[in-house]
Amino acid sequence: MERRHFPRHETDPECVPMSPWQAESFPTCNGFHETGIESLVDNSLRLLSTSGSWRDAWRLKAPIAGQKDSVDNIIMKTINQASRNKHTFQDRYFEFSRVDSLAMEKLTSSPYVMNIYGHCGMSVMTERGGEQLGHVARRISSRERVKMAIKVAEGLVDVHGIGGGDNASLVHNDINLNNIFVGGNFRTPLLNDFNIAVLLMKDRRSGQACAFTGHYPNPQWKSPEEQVSPQGGSKGQLNEKVDIYAVGNLLFTFLTGKAPWGHLAKHHPEELPKIGRAKMTEGLVPPVPDEYLKSKDPYLRVLRQAMDMCFQFRPEDRPSAKELAQFLEEAKVEADQSDIEFGRKRRKRK
Ligand SMILES: Nc1ncnc2c1ncn2[C@@H]1O[C@H](COP(=O)(O)OP(=O)(O)O)[C@@H](O)[C@H]1O
Ligand SMILES: [Mg+2]
Repeated sequence: MERRHFPRHETDPECVPMSPWQAESFPTCNGFHETGIESLVDNSLRLLSTSGSWRDAWRLKAPIAGQKDSVDNIIMKTINQASRNKHTFQDRYFEFSRVDSLAMEKLTSSPYVMNIYGHCGMSVMTERGGEQLGHVARRISSRERVKMAIKVAEGLVDVHGIGGGDNASLVHNDINLNNIFVGGNFRTPLLNDFNIAVLLMKDRRSGQACAFTGHYPNPQWKSPEEQVSPQGGSKGQLNEKVDIYAVGNLLFTFLTGKAPWGHLAKHHPEELPKIGRAKMTEGLVPPVPDEYLKSKDPYLRVLRQAMDMCFQFRPEDRPSAKELAQFLEEAKVEADQSDIEFGRKRRKRK
């Protein structure tokens, strides 16, 4: 394995960390060995999920020394070995894991980020999430979905503002319904999975934030600028607004109950590259069925307006996380008002 210094900008050597904390790491390997990790599979851990693209999640079967509630409340994630997406040990993945745990560690004070208990190599121990937001969203009212969207936006305010100051210094880069759990009696979204998060860097000469390149251009989910150019890599120069676009996907699902381009992805996946190209060239956005466009539900209107803002073609036309949270909060107050006039009917999705 090559010995490298991290973080390092992928293309521009003039780009350096924005702040010293971005180069830190807090390994707590003893905690892992105390769980009896050498007899990992047969004794102390039970496989919980193989659905992640990088990591398998394991539930502890025996308590960690000194943490009596650890059995049901703490999980361990390790690089995929049990699932079909096996990953090998590479420098790049060690760095992913460092950033994942650093982000959670630095965001301990945020109520909207999963808590971390330990990190070693490519493994991480965190609190165990309840249900993923995708499941919870299906059974809550439109008003509750707006409240949830406000909290997700507030969570992103914490993520982007991790280092303080005016510049965003961290991009989650993988916001989706599976990477957000819901805690606190199903009311609080917990952002999880910072495995491909990006620590934004700055140009040492100008002090300006450096853009980054995307490598995961999934046409169904990703923004126009993340789609692949003929030269490879993302078409555009990326910044934290990719997370805002991703919130647009989330809002689409809150609005319609469906994933953007979900039908196509399921029945005609071969068509998806066309969607990616049309996103890049025409700013194509997923179509919203008429019933939701015409709905009189004031909360659905709020979700649609916020989604339109997030799906703006040019990243600079999308709101910041803070602007999005403010918009949603104000729009919710107005929607509450029209809801009262409307007879205070709570609409649950059938
Ligand atoms: N804190 C958690 N609590 C419960 N299950 C989790 C937790 N974190 C991850 N998982 C499960 O493990 C899967 C993979 O974890 P994730 O952090 O998303 O890693 P990846 O980088 O592989 O996508 C998730 O989709 C989920 O099913
Ligand atoms: Mg994930």
